[in-house]
Amino acid sequence: MSTASPAGPPSGTSPSGPTPPDTSAGWRGVATEDDDDLSATASSFLRGRSRQLLGELLRPHRRALWVLLGVILVQNLAWLAGPFLIGVGIDVAVPALLDGDPWPLVWTTAAMVGAALADTVLRYRFLIGSGRVGQAVLLTLRRRVFTHVQHLPLSFHERYTSGKTISRLTSDIEALAELLDEGLDGLLTALFSVLTIGVVLLVLDPPLGLVALLGFPLLFLLSRWFQRNSTVAYRRTRQTIAALIVQFTETMGGMRAVQAFRREPRNDELHAQLNEDNRRAHHRAFWLIAVFVPLVTLIGNVITVAVLGYGALRVMDGDLAVGVLVSFLLYLRRFFDPLQDIAMFYNSYQSASAALEKLSGVLEERSVVAEPVDPTPLPSGSGAAAGEVVFDRVRFGYGAATVLPELHLTIPAGQTVALVGATGAGKSTLARLAARFYDPLSGQVRLDGVPLDQLADADLRRAVVMVTQESFLFSGSIADNISFGRPDATRPEVEAAARAIGAHTFIAALPEGYDTDVRKRGGRLSAGQRQLVSFARAFLADPAVLVLDEATSSLDVPSERLVQRALQTLLADRTALIIAHRLSTVEFADRALVMDAGRIVEDGSPADLVAGAGRFADLHRAWADSLV
Ligand SMILES: Nc1ncnc2c1ncn2[C@@H]1O[C@H](COP(=O)(O)OP(=O)(O)OP(=O)(O)O)[C@@H](O)[C@H]1O
Ligand SMILES: [Mg+2]
Repeated sequence: MSTASPAGPPSGTSPSGPTPPDTSAGWRGVATEDDDDLSATASSFLRGRSRQLLGELLRPHRRALWVLLGVILVQNLAWLAGPFLIGVGIDVAVPALLDGDPWPLVWTTAAMVGAALADTVLRYRFLIGSGRVGQAVLLTLRRRVFTHVQHLPLSFHERYTSGKTISRLTSDIEALAELLDEGLDGLLTALFSVLTIGVVLLVLDPPLGLVALLGFPLLFLLSRWFQRNSTVAYRRTRQTIAALIVQFTETMGGMRAVQAFRREPRNDELHAQLNEDNRRAHHRAFWLIAVFVPLVTLIGNVITVAVLGYGALRVMDGDLAVGVLVSFLLYLRRFFDPLQDIAMFYNSYQSASAALEKLSGVLEERSVVAEPVDPTPLPSGSGAAAGEVVFDRVRFGYGAATVLPELHLTIPAGQTVALVGATGAGKSTLARLAARFYDPLSGQVRLDGVPLDQLADADLRRAVVMVTQESFLFSGSIADNISFGRPDATRPEVEAAARAIGAHTFIAALPEGYDTDVRKRGGRLSAGQRQLVSFARAFLADPAVLVLDEATSSLDVPSERLVQRALQTLLADRTALIIAHRLSTVEFADRALVMDAGRIVEDGSPADLVAGAGRFADLHRAWADSLV
C-alpha cells in the first residue's frame, strides 16, 4: 500500500564539498557555519531553527494538513477493514450460507466493496492534497532562499561559493521535495498501519498477538544496527559525491586553463579516484540495505510460521475460529511490509533534515550592509545625486589584517579620478567601499554629504555604478544586457546608449543585431566588445558616480583605443573613479592618485605628477619606454 520504494541512499546530494579553511569566516558578526558538519547533527533530530523554518512553511497550510491527516486515518481504516471482513466472511457468512441464509454474505461482500472504494477514493484525495501542499511549501521555500541570497552582501558570497549556493537551491530543495512527495506519504501510512495493526493483532486474539510480539526485540535490534551503520555509510556517500561534484565544477569552470595547461590526464586520474570512492561508499550503503530488507522479511516469515502453528493448535482445541486466524495472518503480512518502508524512509528523512538545516542556516544569514530602516534622502530632493564622494577617516579590512588604515579622500562632483598603485595596494577595496559592497570598520563614506549606510538602496544603486573587469553578461539578448541597469529603457534609448559608446556598429553587424543572444558569459563577443556592452549598460543607467575597476586591462591596443574613446563619453559629466594599470587611461583624468599599502601617497593632476619626481613619474616613464 505504501508508495515508498526501497530507494537506495539518495545520490543527488549536496555538492558542498570539503571547504578550505576560510579565514574571513565570522568577521563582523556574520553567522558562519561549515555546513558539512551539519549532516551529522541534523541526522537524528531537527534543530531549533530547522523546526522553526518548517513550522513557518507549514503554518499557512494548517487546515489542509488537518484535513489530510483525517483523510489518511479514514483511508487506513477502510484498508484495515479488508482482512477483518474476510475473517467474518469465513466464520459467519459461509456457515450462514450453508444454512440457506445468503444475507450475511451479501452484507460482508457489500462492506468489502464499500471499503475498497473508500480506500481508493480517499487515497486519491490524499495523494492530490499532499502533493499540492508539498509543492506550495517548496515554491515558498525556493523563493525565500533565492530572494534572501540575492540580498546577502558580497562578503557572504565570497565565503559561500556559488557552487554551495547552487546546491542549496537545487539538491537541497530536491531532497525536501523527495521527502514531501513520497517519503511523508509512505511514512504516515507505514506508521499508522504498524500502530493500528499492532493494536488490532492484540485485540483480535491476545495469545496470538503475544506470539507475534516475540519477534519484536529482534526487529528492534536489527533496525538499530541498520540505522547506525546506514548513518555512517550515508554520510560517506554524501561526502564522496560532494567531492566529485566540486572537482567536476572546477574542471568545467576552468576549462580554458585545463586545456591550456594540458591538465586533462591528471584530472582524469583525480576523477577516477573520486568516482571509485563514491562507488565504494554506495556499495556499502546498498550492502546494508541488501542485508536489512531480506532479514526483516525472514523474521516476518518466521513469526508467520509460529503464529500459523500455534493458531492451528488453538483452532484444533476449539479456542479459535478459522476466520480469526486467517484475518490474523493477513494482518501480519500487512504489518511487516511497512516496517521495511520505515527503514528506507530513514535515509530520505536524513537527507531532508540535513537539507533543511542548511537552508535554514542560509536564511539565518543577515546582511551586514543592510538597508537603513529610516533612510536619509539625498540633499537634491529629486533623488538624483550630484556626485560628491568623501572618504572620511575610513578604516577597513576583510579579516584581521587592516587593508585601509585611515583613508581621507574628497572627490568633488564631476571629477574624473584615476587611481594607480601596486597590486594589493587596496585600490579595488577602495572602489568596493565607494559602491558600498562593504561598510567601513570605522569612519564614513559619504555621497553628497549623506553616509552611504544611511541611503536607501534604490538611491544608492541609482547613484553609484561599478563596472568591473569581468564585465559580466547574462544570457539573453544584447539589448537585455544593455538595459540591465534600467529595465524600463526603450529600444531607441538602448541604441542611443550603444551609439554614444561606439558599440552600435559591431552590434548591428551581429546576425540578429540587438536581439542576438550573447549566450552564457557573452561567449560570442570579444573581450573588447563585452567591455563596450558593459559600458553601454553603465551609460544607460546614467549614474552620478561611476567606478571602473581595471576595466580596460584585458584589451589589446586597438580595442583599448576604441574603449578609451567610449570611456571618455561615459565619464563626461559625472564623478568617476578609475582604477587602471595602463597609464593611457589616466591621461584624460582630472586627477591622479597613487596608492600604496592602503594609503594615498601622491595626489595631483596627471601632468604635475609626471613632471614631478614621485612614483607616478617613475611609472609613467616606464610606461612611455614600453611604448617605444
Ligand atoms: N575579498 C577579500 N577577502 C579578504 N581579503 C581581501 C579580499 N579582497 C582583497 N583582499 C586583500 O586586501 C588587500 C587589498 O586588495 P585589493 O584587491 O584592494 O588590491 P588592489 O589594489 O585592487 O590590487 P590589484 O591591483 O592586484 O587589483 C590585499 O592584501 C588582498 O589580499
Ligand atoms: Mg584590484
